[in-house]
Amino acid sequence: MKVVRSRSEFAAVRASLAGPVGLVPTMGALHAGHAALLHAARAECAAVITTNFVNPMQFGPTEDLARYPRTLDADLAICEAAGVDVVWAPAVEDVYPHGTAQVTVQPGPIGDLLEGEVRPGHFAGVLTVVAKFLNLVRPDRAYFGEKDYQQLTLIRLMAADLDLGAEIVGVETVREPDGLALSSRNVYLSAEDRRHALALSRALFAGQARAADGAVSVITIATGVLAAEAGLAVDYLELRGADLGEIPEHGPARLLVAARVGTTRLIDNVGLVL
Ligand code: PAF
Repeated sequence: MKVVRSRSEFAAVRASLAGPVGLVPTMGALHAGHAALLHAARAECAAVITTNFVNPMQFGPTEDLARYPRTLDADLAICEAAGVDVVWAPAVEDVYPHGTAQVTVQPGPIGDLLEGEVRPGHFAGVLTVVAKFLNLVRPDRAYFGEKDYQQLTLIRLMAADLDLGAEIVGVETVREPDGLALSSRNVYLSAEDRRHALALSRALFAGQARAADGAVSVITIATGVLAAEAGLAVDYLELRGADLGEIPEHGPARLLVAARVGTTRLIDNVGLVL
């Protein structure tokens, strides 16, 4: 496994790789959810590249950029075990050599919903850095977790609308045995926060189990589970179509939730068929 820092080092290594090439973009602080992305890429591609870069552009002024966990040594061990060929861990100046990007990728209407409403500018930051990495790495496939479902949806739209070439592959959310979705931000949770946080997946699964009864039942049951947990400040619970459009009468849909537990903001979602 090669670990490279600068653009020129990366370009030299990239030139030596035969395809198909799989890219797993990450912000480090890797856990079993990221490992699932790396394994999916390893199973389908001749070469696996992962980027390890905490992207300042996707953090709002009051968000957790400074305290975001940075665990490169542990990340490298996970990459090695997953059979990664190249880890690219650039500095901010390698990714944004001209300072913060002035020309950015705007997410369009889907970017104004859900996370976009609570985190203005977040998806422009995500899409801009993902577009840069797709252009710099030129992968055949790029892998993203369903845990960030709106992000995955927007990256798919961007790749299609801007003809970026790479196939965007979504990988199922990895959960703890008690249902908590794995997230790099789970390290912020105290034992008590963690107990409160379990209400997110409990609500989603309760809603999912009522899919056959229709949208109103799904929302009512999931809302009830969240309301019973006093330790949560819920930002949203929404049922939408699988493409994040309007709720279909019948067919694939997505139930999404975001809530704050103490000082930590968590998101989760599940698929269901109405
Ligand atoms: O999901 C993430 O970790 C980040 O948003 C991504 C896709 C690596 C872009 O910085």
